[in-house]
Amino acid sequence: MTQENNQVSAFLNRLSESATLAMTRKSRELQAKGIDVVNLSLGEPDFETPDFIKGAAKEGIDQNFTHYMPVPGYQDFRESICKKFKRDNGLEFTPDQIVVSTGAKQSIVNIVLATVSEGDEVILPAPYWVSYIEMVKMAGATPVVISTDIAADYKITPAQLADAITECTKLMIFSSPCNPSGSVYSEAELNALADVMVDHPQMTIVSDEIYEHINYTTAHCSLGSIEKIKDRVATVNGVSKAFAMTGWRIGYMGAPLWLANACSKLQGQFTSGASGISQRAAKAAVEASPSVTDDMKAQFEKRRGFMKTALEAIPGFEVNEPEGAFYMFPKISSLFGKKFQDTVIANSDDLAEYILTEGHVATVSGAAFGSPDCLRISYAASMSDLEKATERILNAISKLS
Ligand SMILES: Cc1ncc(COP(=O)(O)O)c(C=O)c1O
Repeated sequence: MTQENNQVSAFLNRLSESATLAMTRKSRELQAKGIDVVNLSLGEPDFETPDFIKGAAKEGIDQNFTHYMPVPGYQDFRESICKKFKRDNGLEFTPDQIVVSTGAKQSIVNIVLATVSEGDEVILPAPYWVSYIEMVKMAGATPVVISTDIAADYKITPAQLADAITECTKLMIFSSPCNPSGSVYSEAELNALADVMVDHPQMTIVSDEIYEHINYTTAHCSLGSIEKIKDRVATVNGVSKAFAMTGWRIGYMGAPLWLANACSKLQGQFTSGASGISQRAAKAAVEASPSVTDDMKAQFEKRRGFMKTALEAIPGFEVNEPEGAFYMFPKISSLFGKKFQDTVIANSDDLAEYILTEGHVATVSGAAFGSPDCLRISYAASMSDLEKATERILNAISKLS
């Protein structure tokens, strides 16, 4: 054990460094040496927060929303969230079932810490968002990973779900649209999964819908709108992705009352209520017509089309067409075993590292998302950066033999 490991808690030693942040750190190190790196490792829109939202925040400052806030969020904001859930998702919540947090990330960790402990199992369809597994480990619970592949469009089947559930299953966490695969579950697919969930009343399901508005094809369906399991679903959402508001740190959930109360209790001891000024901004965002996000979505869709064609042209990249979010998730395992000079590409970590050092493009290894055959490439970047990046990746891969 290193000196550093000795000094930090056992709890901290259970956690891994965020793979996406690690990649960002490595690309900054290269940039500091004067190297031009295209960073496609990040999960944030490259747009600015719309002016009407900034205006609401300015009003919030003038109206002195600057004190400690109610822990679960301001009442009128929670009322707006109830209306949003009804308008967009067909979900019925009362304000006391809503908890506003410092980002959707906090909403999810609140739920994990409020529901599971050692001995409990948490089902995670892979690829999963990197933080889910770390949160489960943090709570001392056991992650149960269901693997999927590109042939299944990275979606689990009801049979896989049924096989994964045991009497220790307490929670399942998934995102649709999914980070990192971009896959979207249709209403029929969610219904079929709900048919399995309904037989396991001890299980709570977290439906992470943070990419709801970045969906190019299928109409968005919320798992919680399915009658037979609606009382066991916690729907998590936020303003970070849809409204380019990652830095404002506002997420929220609608959940069964017992769970909302549990999360409020927990949050009350950690961070208290989320920033009042940010809540005023987020209230304007959730009250706006969802069509305000159409322009951003159209730009992402154009980039998706470009990326699909460009990545398909790279030898060894197997590419599907993600229906949502802003990531490509090619299968790249046919490149394992290839070499550049003395460097052998043994796995997706090696490939991400090679593409960074040789091609100067930052991506993230699929291993971090529980899919070690893949690579995550964000297209939340300008077209010129995407053109430059895909050309560089093609060049780097062409040097492998
Ligand atoms: C699937 C998923 N859920 C939740 C979050 C967290 O979002 P927030 O910025 O609201 O904490 C992210 C951010 O990358 C995400 O990709």
